[in-house]
Amino acid sequence: MRENSGKFKLTHYRNYTWINPSYLDIQTQLLEIPENFEQNGVLLHVNPFDFSSVKKVKIDSLGGGIDLAVKAFKFPQYIPLRRRLRPNRGLMGARHCKKIAMILRNMGILTPEPLASFEFQKPIGAYQGFYACRFLETNFNHKPFLGIDFTNEIMYREFLGEFAHTIFRLHKCGIFHYDLTHSNILVNKVGDGFNIAFIDLNACRKRIYVKEKHILGSLVKISSSAHVMNFIGLEYAKHMGLDPVKFTYKLDFAHGNHWQN
Ligand SMILES: Nc1ncnc2c1ncn2[C@@H]1O[C@H](COP(=O)(O)OP(=O)(O)OP(=O)(O)O)[C@@H](O)[C@H]1O
Ligand SMILES: [Mg+2]
Repeated sequence: MRENSGKFKLTHYRNYTWINPSYLDIQTQLLEIPENFEQNGVLLHVNPFDFSSVKKVKIDSLGGGIDLAVKAFKFPQYIPLRRRLRPNRGLMGARHCKKIAMILRNMGILTPEPLASFEFQKPIGAYQGFYACRFLETNFNHKPFLGIDFTNEIMYREFLGEFAHTIFRLHKCGIFHYDLTHSNILVNKVGDGFNIAFIDLNACRKRIYVKEKHILGSLVKISSSAHVMNFIGLEYAKHMGLDPVKFTYKLDFAHGNHWQN
């Protein structure tokens, strides 16, 4: 089944504004985000491939300031021909981020709360989009856990076990994140457990019919280490009720292909 079945064809390039109804008290400031993006905030990241950028922006509200992470998209990442060939890849950018964030939050999967989303049609088919969500402070650097070197065996297993379970829950909702790299996973250590949140939601797809290639494709980027991948694969297979030997064999193959090319 086509996910968007053409319904975005007419509306996609129209100007689009969404404000989270829980934040109507600060809607004036939120509506100014696109206009003020250039001059306000602290630059966190610029993506050299699609020129999108992320800024930390403070917004005043009655209950004190709110820190937002605002991502500005320069391209719609929407190519009609490509969409005709791959219908599920139609809608990307600010609006897509908001749609996925709402699905995740309804399912109890962590992602920073979305506050606003905008899309503007510019002359000659150009595009500009903004997605604003809460800035999430993190207290746990999980990068070493996804690498080859690790020292704390117990913490390593606990983190990766919980991580695999979170990915399983994400897939259970039919959401596949195809850019599960270290920088797109924000982790907080809370008591004995971990709060694992996903960002960069424009790399997510909602799938109704899930094939094995979707699962493998969304797992392989997590770590370059085959050892770590195998551990995550075993945990994931356990939750999914898959044959662990067969699954990790296929995952290892897909992982090798991804990291060698
Ligand atoms: N809500 C947020 N809370 C805290 N930090 C954030 C948030 N959103 C983005 N960041 C920071 O900004 C960085 C870039 O954000 P994001 O991944 O959305 O952009 P990107 O251009 O897709 O990056 P990349 O292509 O490298 O994954 C993140 O790695 C993270 O450090
Ligand atoms: Mg990212």
